[in-house]
Amino acid sequence: MSHLKDITGSDGKELSGKKIALCVTASVSITEAPRIARTLMRHSAEVIPVLTAEAAELVSPMIFEWSTGNSPITKITGKVEHVELVTSSRVDAIVIAPCTANTLSKIASGIADDPVSTLVCTSLGTNIPLIIVPAMHEPMMKNPFIQESIARLEKLGVKFVKGKIEESKSKIASSEEVLNAVLSAIGTKTESSDELENLGFLITAGPTREAIDQVRFISNASSGKMGIALTQACLDGGAKEVCLIHGPGVNLPKEFRNIRVRSVVSTEDMLNSVLEELATGKYDVFISAAAPGDYALVSPKKGKISTSENDHFSIQLEATKKIVKVAKERFPEIFVAAFKAEYGMSEKELVEKARQSLEKSGSDLAIANDVSREDIGFGSEENEVIIVPKKGQPKFLKKASKSEIASEIVSFIASIELVSF
Ligand SMILES: Cc1cc2nc3c(=O)[nH]c(=O)nc-3n(C[C@H](O)[C@H](O)[C@H](O)COP(=O)(O)O)c2cc1C
Repeated sequence: MSHLKDITGSDGKELSGKKIALCVTASVSITEAPRIARTLMRHSAEVIPVLTAEAAELVSPMIFEWSTGNSPITKITGKVEHVELVTSSRVDAIVIAPCTANTLSKIASGIADDPVSTLVCTSLGTNIPLIIVPAMHEPMMKNPFIQESIARLEKLGVKFVKGKIEESKSKIASSEEVLNAVLSAIGTKTESSDELENLGFLITAGPTREAIDQVRFISNASSGKMGIALTQACLDGGAKEVCLIHGPGVNLPKEFRNIRVRSVVSTEDMLNSVLEELATGKYDVFISAAAPGDYALVSPKKGKISTSENDHFSIQLEATKKIVKVAKERFPEIFVAAFKAEYGMSEKELVEKARQSLEKSGSDLAIANDVSREDIGFGSEENEVIIVPKKGQPKFLKKASKSEIASEIVSFIASIELVSF
């Protein structure tokens, strides 16, 4: 193996034996493309860089030779590289990252006048997955022709991995997000993706609020990011049905416009929504990733408690109903996975606590994490969890982005749900 490829497989084997054409266009985000190439390689992919003429103008193609260990295709020659890559030397997926407004429009119109658009024009009618990672200024993204092109391509099954709108730019998604899309399309997760197609998922996310009066409330620091990542992982895996129930203050990605989403305030609201959804019979799995309040006021006050009249006041709290326990009691046929947040515990203690919670709640799987750590858990972009199934050995998921952790959890659930549950 070339020394340039010595990182291959350093983070996983999921893309082992898979070849990916990484198409690169002339966006300022081109600087991220080598990182994306290296991330795919670290998960065992072979990456073939394909550049537009404009991209080869913006940066030297040599950087892609270094980052992938393969010669970049910068011209279609007598070797008809575009045909070769979809036939004799067939790639398993085509990723365009970054993708300019120009290339996006050309692809949606069937134009083939440079190595990237020619390759995509040749592959679109085949079943090679195409993943587009756009990057452009916000006004370009809002251009009705661009929006129309995105909609047309999505209709054909093309997957878009959109980044955030920041500083008036539609920024390129992270290399982890691109990796996850590739894994969903062709990774070893394909097996569980097939399984996901037969499964409906109900997911809860975020905090709840328990009213003190009509202005003030008790809540917690849950951001809902883990529940969102789980929802996304189910969507990426092609789950049959996905519904998200979330508490206040949770930021939803735009893509969730097309799925069933319910917004709730209190733990009681969340419980009622969960029971209503489960009663529809659409779901096989309920993942409780929310942090519903464990206590609510016995009698919240009407109006606003006046500070001028009350130097002190007391509130009486009572335990709320455990959503997971009630859900499992009412719907024992549903596979229930519940996050268990603990504070300042060793791995051994976390596993022990998770096992106790499985006993108490009747759920089928616990996902334990330590929320005392500032680098993971509540509000952070990363997490580190232990999956503790009712039957079988715990699985330790080391610190990784919440989307990577979510994919692992969903795959784990799919693999045991359909086989042994
Ligand atoms: C420095 C620089 C940065 C650019 N960044 C972007 C970008 O992020 N997104 C985009 O759509 N166009 C961007 N453009 C404009 C494209 O390069 C231009 O539309 C070009 O024709 C695209 O060619 P290609 O799609 O064949 O690579 C940029 C141009 C320059 C010079």
